[in-house]
Formats: sequence, structure tokens, C-alpha cells
Amino acid sequence: MPDNTHARLFDTHQLGPATLRNRTVLAPMTRVSAEPDGTVSERIKEYYRVFAAGGFAALITEGLYIDTEHSPGYFGQPGIATDAQVQSWRKVTDAVHDESSTVIAQLMHAGPQAQGNPFGLGPIGPTEKPARGEQLPFYGGSGPYPTPSAVTADDIGRIRQAFVDSALRAREAGFDGVELHGANGYLLDAFLTDYLNDRDDQYGGSPRNRVRLTVEICDAVREAVGEDFVVGVRLSQGKVSDHAHKWIGGADEAEVIFTELATTTVDYVHTTEPVASAPAFEGDPRSLAMLAGQFTNATIIANGSINTPDEASSLLDRSRADLVALAKPALANRDWPERVRTDAPLNDPLVPLEGGLADIEDWEVNADSLLNNGDSAR
Ligand SMILES: Cc1cc2nc3c(=O)[nH]c(=O)nc-3n(C[C@H](O)[C@H](O)[C@H](O)COP(=O)(O)O)c2cc1C
Repeated sequence: MPDNTHARLFDTHQLGPATLRNRTVLAPMTRVSAEPDGTVSERIKEYYRVFAAGGFAALITEGLYIDTEHSPGYFGQPGIATDAQVQSWRKVTDAVHDESSTVIAQLMHAGPQAQGNPFGLGPIGPTEKPARGEQLPFYGGSGPYPTPSAVTADDIGRIRQAFVDSALRAREAGFDGVELHGANGYLLDAFLTDYLNDRDDQYGGSPRNRVRLTVEICDAVREAVGEDFVVGVRLSQGKVSDHAHKWIGGADEAEVIFTELATTTVDYVHTTEPVASAPAFEGDPRSLAMLAGQFTNATIIANGSINTPDEASSLLDRSRADLVALAKPALANRDWPERVRTDAPLNDPLVPLEGGLADIEDWEVNADSLLNNGDSAR
């Protein structure tokens, strides 16, 4: 490797049972390009393989729906809920392993952010309060989110079981681990969110109660999969349709949330913020990733506008995170780690989300042309 200033990015890291060859992770990105039955095609295999070939030590998949009930969020979203879906993921996990990377399935229950369910069921949420903002046009939605039905005590058990079953299916499909999607307004994050959760049982009210479902699912999944499988959890303040949201109790609330997560045996906590290194709350210099690292012993993955190797290295150098996850910069540079390792120039991050469906179609086309243009344009 050339002698450059980003050597730390290429240190190995032990992520639970998985040894990562460097510190770069592909962040989860929904593609809405699955088959109608939620299986994935050769094209998706190739999409993921290229990031592994480009040097990302671990890939986190797009959010996968976990049951054939309320969990899907978007038409075209792939699942990990049926045998056919498990079989279809095998080619992806094999291809990623052949390129020496680790591959983690993101398990997602869309909750009140659901805007397209192929099984014809409506959304559910902690209470009958719709997600703020408007449905995402680039995933085929429009107008306000519908009001969800409130999750019952029986539903809680079914949801927990759906996460467990889908984690077991992910293992069967050859994944090295799972990431529980507790971010971006989806079901687990909706429970965490003061303005969506008016419950008066043990899952509502205090921050400890609001994070309880996530903690219980972390425990239940770990118990089911054992130690030899990566289990992580992703958290955010912002949501897909409410980017500016902040945890209402500020840093004190963050302390409670991360301290509760520290009672579990998750291998990592993945925080996503608009800018990974920025202070999470006014008047406190700590980023969300730093707060996570302060109160848990898990590996910390930081995400959000980590565009350049300098930004990535400074996060690692100052012990702010153990791993960096890239989404849009990775779309523009599917071999971002290799480019950095060899001091090759980087393309600017792709911004597929401005301007609705046309742009996401362009992005898909763009992604294909990037895929097909061989090494130099990758
Ligand atoms: C096209 C696209 C799809 C995304 N889908 C997901 C997803 O399925 N799950 C998730 O947790 N985050 C998702 N995100 C958020 C990214 O993982 C990431 O947090 C965000 O883009 C900020 O990181 P960046 O600055 O590196 O792009 C998506 C982002 C983009 C651009």
C-alpha cells in the first residue's frame, strides 16, 4: 500500500466474530429494484459484488422486510421473509464472500413510514399517529402518510418474533450478520420518538421505555443466532420525512438510550446523522457516534457526509468511531476504499434523492452505467 496519510482506514477490525480487512463499510441503501415477490436478481448480486471488489470491508444491505404482514415499506423492496427470498440472497452473499468482504442484512420494519405493502396491509405504529412530512416520491409515494393502527400487546410479540425469524433466515442465506433498523422513522425508531409514541404501557413515556422494544429485539435476536453471528443496531435522530428531528431529551436522553443498548450484546451501534462529526445537540460538542461510544462498549459505526478520506480518517483518529459507513460517496465511487488506498481521485457524491422519481430512475440508469463501465468508471 502506498505510504499515504490514511493508513488508519486500512487497519483491520474485529467486528464480533467477523474480521474486517479495513474500516470502511457500505451504508444501507434501498434500491426498490427487487422482483415483485421480493427476491433479488443477478443484477442486484452484481451491484453488491462491485462494492466488495472495490474494497469495502463490510456491506450492509438495503433494508429488507422481515415478514409478509406489516413490515414492507416500499413496492420493489426485497425481503428476507420467505424461502424463495432466502434462496435468492445466497448468490449475493456468495459473491460478496468471494471478494473477501463481510455482508450484513439490514432487517427493517417500516412501521408508520410504510408507503407500499405488496401484501395489501396498512401501516402500524406505536400509537395512531402518522409519520410527519410527506411520503417519498422517489419510492412511489405521494401525499401525507396514512394514520397507522396502534401496535397491540400481541403485535409486540409477533414483531419481536419476526425480527428473530428473519435473522435466522439471514444466517441461512449466508449473511455474516444482521443490522436491526432502529433509525429513520421506521417502526423501532417510531417507538423511540416522543411525538409518535403516546403509549401508556412499558413501551411508552420515558426514553428507557421508548427504547425498550429495540433492546428486547437485540436480546431476542442474539439469543436466537448465538455468538457466532454479527448483530448490530442502527439509530438516528432524523427520519426520512423529518430530517431535522432531535431527541427531545438531548444528550441526557442519548445517555439513557445508549446505556440501555449497552445491556445487550450487540456487536455494533451504527449512528447516522446528517454530518457524522457534527455535535448531536446544541451546547454539547459530542457527536451522536461519540455519545454511543461513551456509553457502550460495542463497535461504533459512524455515517453521514463522510465524503473524503480526510473526513473519514479524522473520525477514526480522534476515537470518534471505529468504522465509517458511506452511502452517496460510495455510489459515486464504488471502489472508494481502493481509490483512497491507491491515492486515486474521487468523484463527487451522487445525489439521487433531489427531485423525485425521475432522479431515482436516472440514478438507477446511472448506477447501471457505472456498473458496466468497468474499472475506471466504477
Ligand atoms: C438511495 C438511498 C437509499 C437509502 N436507503 C436506506 C436504507 O434502506 N436503510 C437505511 O438505514 N438508510 C438508508 N439510506 C440512508 C443512508 O444509509 C445514509 O444514512 C445517508 O445517505 C447518509 O449517508 P451519506 O452522507 O454517506 O450518503 C439511504 C440513502 C440513500 C441515498
